Amino acid sequence: MPIGGNMLNWDDYYNEDAPVKKDEVQKDEKQVLPDPKLQKVEEVNEPQSDVIVAEQNSSTEEVGSTLTDEDLKLAKEDLDTLEGRVQVDQKAMINSRADLNQLVPFKYEWAWKKYLDGCANHWMPQEINMTQDIALWRSNDGLSDDERRIVKRSLGFFSTADSLVANNLVLAVYRNITNPECRQYLLRQAFEEAIHTHAYQYCVESLGMDEGEIFNMYREVPSVERKAAWGLKYTKELSDPNFRTGTPENDKAFLANLIAYYCVLEGMFFYCGFTQVLSMGRLNKMTGVSEQFQYILRDESMHVNFGIDVINSIKNENPEIWDQDMIARARNMILEGTQYEIDYARDSMPRGVLGMNAKMMEEYLKFICNRRLVQIGLEEEYPGAKNPFPWMSEIMDLRKEKNFFETRVIEYQVGGSLQFD
Ligand SMILES: [Fe+2]
Ligand SMILES: [Fe+2]
Repeated sequence: MPIGGNMLNWDDYYNEDAPVKKDEVQKDEKQVLPDPKLQKVEEVNEPQSDVIVAEQNSSTEEVGSTLTDEDLKLAKEDLDTLEGRVQVDQKAMINSRADLNQLVPFKYEWAWKKYLDGCANHWMPQEINMTQDIALWRSNDGLSDDERRIVKRSLGFFSTADSLVANNLVLAVYRNITNPECRQYLLRQAFEEAIHTHAYQYCVESLGMDEGEIFNMYREVPSVERKAAWGLKYTKELSDPNFRTGTPENDKAFLANLIAYYCVLEGMFFYCGFTQVLSMGRLNKMTGVSEQFQYILRDESMHVNFGIDVINSIKNENPEIWDQDMIARARNMILEGTQYEIDYARDSMPRGVLGMNAKMMEEYLKFICNRRLVQIGLEEEYPGAKNPFPWMSEIMDLRKEKNFFETRVIEYQVGGSLQFD
């Protein structure tokens, strides 16, 4: 009989077509007979139960086991090289000997919290209405040439950049992070990057853009190409399958990869394009594309915060690799990235547009540069740089129910369906 709503109890289970072992039925029969319900089960299952037991006994032989004694011995030897039950103090960001298959106990509660926050912010590109954007993009006088250039450049850069980030996570970052709660976040981040690439593709498709032009911009437009090539260089360095952390040189190479992607690619290269597209949305133009970018920006700000925490944890756990050489290298990477982003701002905004210009963007990027440097324990490069776009910080912290563009309200829920009003 159903108890507690739709839950089944064991009587119902036996009434369904689940296989019942012969000896279990016989045992129950002796204890609880007469029970008409159980008698009915016996009638239904008795003729088949011998067959079922026989199949269970011989199933591995029939299928053919590929697991040899040698495999079991090797698996045991592998596990024997690890510590046994994991203790918190055995866990580390890199070069840990603790068993990576044991998620708990947590060492980095913040990583687990970020994983949960990422899941709570789940969204999909198709939720966003693109109707107004399509009409505006198709109209002859709805957007200026400079505004069109910004939309194209942004989709061109980001459609590839998010793939670069996802590939780097899988090929370079995941295998070298030896902490399960951080790996759990990385898996969530990797899916979010897939959603971002999906979002750009969705915009390109909705607007009927030339896909070849957009997706090849990282090979054909110099200001985009430089940013992509700079990121790719750091993935290539680590994607050699023989690369292992564990030497000062390789630990530094891994740290440099994290700085390249979290502080520069996601933490700097995204900021000019995001600011431009979100400005457009604030002026009620391309509101669908802007809304997509708004959710992506919020995800990205969490990725950057996670990456900074990982970088600082590695520094704290391995102070010997954070030497003068590495400090100078890290600083230089962030400054170089800032310069590429300033070049991109000039290329994508040859004139003032949307109430902003390349000079204002340069100031903003210097402000971001200071932040990134300070976040990993370095000194500001541009003291006094101001944020000319304070509304950008508001968007990053925005909860989805307080929708910036007020096109509609969506509630993010964990484990439930999305609600639209
Ligand atoms: Fe992304
Ligand atoms: Fe990201």
